[in-house]
Amino acid sequence: MSDPKSKDQSFYLKLSDRPPTAAFTDLLETYSGVRTEDVSQHIEKVRDEAWDHYPFPSIGLLLFQDLGLTGDDLPKDDPEITQKIQTAYQTILSKLKNRGRFLDVGCMFAQDTRKLVYDGAPISSVYGCDIRGDYITHGYKLFRDIHIIPPERFFAADILDEGDTHLKRLEGKLDVINAVHLMHVFSIEDQRKLVRRVITMLKQKPGVMFTGRTSGNLTSGYHELTNAESTTKSAEGKIWEHTPESFKEMWKEESEAMNTQWDVDCWFWRFGVHTGKKDDPNWHRKEEHGICTFIATRL
Ligand SMILES: C[S@@+](CC[C@H](N)C(=O)[O-])C[C@H]1O[C@@H](n2cnc3c(N)ncnc32)[C@H](O)[C@@H]1O
Repeated sequence: MSDPKSKDQSFYLKLSDRPPTAAFTDLLETYSGVRTEDVSQHIEKVRDEAWDHYPFPSIGLLLFQDLGLTGDDLPKDDPEITQKIQTAYQTILSKLKNRGRFLDVGCMFAQDTRKLVYDGAPISSVYGCDIRGDYITHGYKLFRDIHIIPPERFFAADILDEGDTHLKRLEGKLDVINAVHLMHVFSIEDQRKLVRRVITMLKQKPGVMFTGRTSGNLTSGYHELTNAESTTKSAEGKIWEHTPESFKEMWKEESEAMNTQWDVDCWFWRFGVHTGKKDDPNWHRKEEHGICTFIATRL
């Protein structure tokens, strides 16, 4: 197998191939205090340190620059979808300002958590967890905000570990769980477990939400992923990618088995479409691949 830490591969992009969005740049400059002229160098430095630590494709692909909850990187060509995403973000902020609780699962650098805090969410409302706790340290290096968000808001945990004490403490007490690019690291069986785990972790009442993104495809199922060894635990170098229909069906089956009802929106975008590279051979995937963005709200 080739070296997964190699920078000469399609999963490692130059910053100029995927520059930060205006919202992410603003976050770094205004929230983190990075000088405008230092932003690119700062992102590249933290990215390379994290890549050398463990080369998750999302680090090489600079996906941590996307503010998944606000959808800042998504095309705005469908006003209805844009409005739903923006409304969901405002709903989440308002829940958090009214004593709600938010957990960013598989948070890595926790950019969505930082954006919420920047936009006024109380520190006491946010939590982030990742199975690789070291990424949390890299998140602090990126956002330089240890004086704003104390380290105890973040913890290392495997979301599927039902015995984990940090997660147990939050069970049934959360209003929003966010999982951006987490689901596809699991086999389809574990994705279904994740759905059940999320429902258990949220408050047992209408209005609680599960938001995020997962890898999508024009056909659902297992697909080869060049760098899958660093991504997947249990699907032998393949990842299970969803269509909006398969995502909704999975959610419906698992949530109904738990006697709950949900309103689920899920949309498919081609990966990297905002960079104009949807089928460029230098882009890491083919045109059939994409991102499924979802918002599930309990009825
Ligand atoms: C593709 S990265 C996405 C990171 C981040 N959410 C983002 O959008 O930039 C997936 C993250 O999930 C974490 N992860 C993988 N399995 C996990 C598990 N069982 N429980 C919690 N986190 C997990 C990985 O360590 C990694 O940081």
